[in-house]
Amino acid sequence: MTVADRITRGAAALTVAILLNAPGAASATTAGEKAVEMSRQDWKAEYVRPSEVPFPEENPYTRDKADLGHKLFFDPRLSGANYISCATCHNPSFSWGDGLPTGFGHKMTPLGRRTPTILNTAFGELMMWDGRFDSLEQQALGPMAAAAEMNQQMESIVEELKAVPGYVSLFNLAFPGEGITVPNIAKAIATFERTVVSGVAPFDLWIAGDETAIGDAAKRGFDLFNNKANCVACHSGWNLTDDSFHDIGLSDDDIGRGAVLKTIVKMQHAFKTPTLRNVVSRAPYMHDGSLATLADVIDHYDGGGKQRPSLSDDMHALKLTADEKADLIAFMRTLDGNDPVVAVPVLPANDQSPNAWLRRVSPAAGSGGGEVSPECRVARLHLRPCTPE
Ligand code: HEC
Ligand code: HEC
Repeated sequence: MTVADRITRGAAALTVAILLNAPGAASATTAGEKAVEMSRQDWKAEYVRPSEVPFPEENPYTRDKADLGHKLFFDPRLSGANYISCATCHNPSFSWGDGLPTGFGHKMTPLGRRTPTILNTAFGELMMWDGRFDSLEQQALGPMAAAAEMNQQMESIVEELKAVPGYVSLFNLAFPGEGITVPNIAKAIATFERTVVSGVAPFDLWIAGDETAIGDAAKRGFDLFNNKANCVACHSGWNLTDDSFHDIGLSDDDIGRGAVLKTIVKMQHAFKTPTLRNVVSRAPYMHDGSLATLADVIDHYDGGGKQRPSLSDDMHALKLTADEKADLIAFMRTLDGNDPVVAVPVLPANDQSPNAWLRRVSPAAGSGGGEVSPECRVARLHLRPCTPE
């Protein structure tokens, strides 16, 4: 159980105590209304936005690092075939997902799991649906090297970036005395990712005290979320996640965290609780992209999920009415933030000096200029084989 989890559960116990002890009630109705009102206030205190983004000591924030990471995140030259960037799958226009049930990598290889958002990952601990990486720095190199994703040879990425003059200067600026190295590529990308934080949403304005910021349906949805529907058992705190792993009873074969923690029954079919910030923009839902809409998600929870030993103890058939379902969706819609527009960065240009292109296509060629026949140069530019005379 995480600290956030403990705090939330503590608050739940407090709410129950208030409900039970509501003293000197004039009539049942007034006491009931008062208790709900008090409980709503208590819950609101659990959802206050943090004022700062946490950056780790080993990789503190600098503007130069974040700017460089922004470029790298959008640069397709990070992939083996130079056509897939991190942003191909983590697209800001889809709230940093790809809008697909499951995406495609190198040579259109279908991926096994849906692309999660990178929004608010600064606040997370374990990365991936199954938590197999324990930092953004560690995570960043994974997709670059994965054959099914960006299919990059990590030995050559440093050389490739060094061949782009602009990157040499940018790395020297961000990492004085160190320049382009594999760990620094990861540090720059991770620093950029930590700046990707969801914008202030109507929900935040309401939490901060503006009663007009969200409608009555959403307020009722918030009460349901924290009480009858029990969503808060896992989607707790301002980022609406406990950053932990649960089996919510989806019926595919993927065992998720079970592959990492093989002997723990409750970790079989368990996946990381995703943030619900900006969730309307990220359909379809779940690690397998199997639920197309928020209404489908609510219906799934209403049914209680597939019964099996690993199913979370917090999953139960909810027996929600149609109005209650609509209220929960109205609540989730208020989490859509007024996010800053993300600029697509201008990337450092390829080296345009004579033979530079040729060197990239075939590192051995072009070095001596005159050694390669004109025919071979043309052949190589079109990536056709050519045996020099
Ligand atoms: C081809 C699509 C694709 C590309 C390209 C890609 N990713 Fe991902 N990303 C995914 C998928 C799919 C997952 C989830 C995989 C899993 O959990 O097994 C993921 C997971 C992540 C996560 C974990 C998020 C979380 O909440 O746990 C981060 C962070 C991330 N990617 C960053 C990056 C970075 C940085 C790059 C570029 C270096 C990148 N991704 C390139 C598809 C992609
Ligand atoms: C037992 C913990 C738990 C409870 C209770 C729970 N969730 Fe979830 N939620 C999760 C996990 C874990 C996932 C990801 C599951 C997966 O992909 O396999 C998830 C996924 C979601 C998603 C999809 C997000 C995305 O980006 O794919 C939404 C929306 C959601 N939950 C809303 C709710 C609502 C609304 C409730 C209450 C009715 C609720 N959850 C109750 C743990 C929980």
